[in-house]
Amino acid sequence: MSNTRKAYRAAILHSLADPAVVGVEQSYQYFEDGILLIENGKVAQVGAAADLLPKLTGVDVQHYRDALITPGFIDTHIHYPQTGMIASYGEQLLDWLNTYTFPTEKQFEDKAHAAEVADIFLKELLRNGTTTALVFGSVHPQSVDAFFEAAQKLDLRMIAGKVMMDRNAPDYLTDTAESGYAESKALIERWHGKGRLHYAVTPRFAPTSTPQQLDLAGKLFGEYPDLYMHTHISENKAEVAWVKELFPARKGYLDVYDHHKLIGPRAVFAHGVHLCDEECARLAETGSAVAFCPTSNLFLGSGLFDLNKLEQHGVRVGLGTDVGAGTSFSQLQSLNEAYKVMQLQGKKLDPFKSLYLATLGGANALYLDDKLGNFLPGKDADFLVLDYNATPLMSYRMQQARSLDEKLFALTMLGDDRAVKETFAAGVSVHQREG
Ligand code: GUN
Ligand code: ZN
Repeated sequence: MSNTRKAYRAAILHSLADPAVVGVEQSYQYFEDGILLIENGKVAQVGAAADLLPKLTGVDVQHYRDALITPGFIDTHIHYPQTGMIASYGEQLLDWLNTYTFPTEKQFEDKAHAAEVADIFLKELLRNGTTTALVFGSVHPQSVDAFFEAAQKLDLRMIAGKVMMDRNAPDYLTDTAESGYAESKALIERWHGKGRLHYAVTPRFAPTSTPQQLDLAGKLFGEYPDLYMHTHISENKAEVAWVKELFPARKGYLDVYDHHKLIGPRAVFAHGVHLCDEECARLAETGSAVAFCPTSNLFLGSGLFDLNKLEQHGVRVGLGTDVGAGTSFSQLQSLNEAYKVMQLQGKKLDPFKSLYLATLGGANALYLDDKLGNFLPGKDADFLVLDYNATPLMSYRMQQARSLDEKLFALTMLGDDRAVKETFAAGVSVHQREG
């Protein structure tokens, strides 16, 4: 955290609420020439330069021209051990796990390897403007130690957990119901609530845990305040059929988790492509969240996420990349693909809804909206400087744009890591693009 008072001047845009709830016009605040004032790693004030500059004598003001300052992006579902296997060819979920994922995750028994990948992963997140993520480790507790050690050095707000998996996976990658519980508990004691770090109890998905393991995971989830629960649900049709076979006594996929007390505030379910209305209603009623992972759902051929259905039920929804099944670390690219997922269903995705999903919506899904997601005073100073002229094509397209929503839409379609000029975490610059 920086002990300084510093101001940043550029166009500034942030979400105030969900456009689906308050309407687009009330959902954001925009200053064409704005000032973001940071004090001791927190937002102190945001406003128009004309109003704030006269009151800031003696304060260092950094001016970015033709740039847009936004809150840092929030990725509500990603796997750091899968960084090196992103873009692996040709399979759907269950074959993809066996062919690529499990052998890759085996390497994380080696803490030095885990530390190396954690560094690469965090650099990649920050290059892409993601300042907070909900992260799967591998089954090895040392993978989570390595991840949190790296995140702590950068003072990032990160959530992670060790995978719990005691069946239907190679022997080299399984724990037991008891060891999974004990190792997760030790990690919670070591890391949960330390600085800006949070722990997530992380059963991989229902097929790879026995009912005994799910029971203990549910017990652990209830044992500490503000813990997260992070898993997958209803991503792929063959997976859904398999869950039905493995848990014949349960009403459906969500009911497996519900039965084992793996539901409620801070429970985050990745994908949810094939959820029924009853499951959506239950997710909403319990305050659980779903991570929409468009690049992954398209890449693995999982299906089209029905954002409007979840929204109508009042489910909290965040945006996830799901790397390594997702094909990009960029939330801008995730929004590009999210738009196409909606188009394929004859639906729309407004650019201000996109902004919300990548920032305040993610914070809301993670119950971190008192700390993250926009520039209200007192929030963590995690923010980005985006460059409208990152590529010749973007620059030319922006010259044609007549309105903020047109520019924002083009940014989400054409932007990626190249559009992130600088990334700040807790008021400190943690990534500067070259050039
Ligand atoms: N379901 C269970 N494990 C995984 C995983 O690693 N990635 C994805 N996309 N889905 C899963
Ligand atoms: Zn995943």
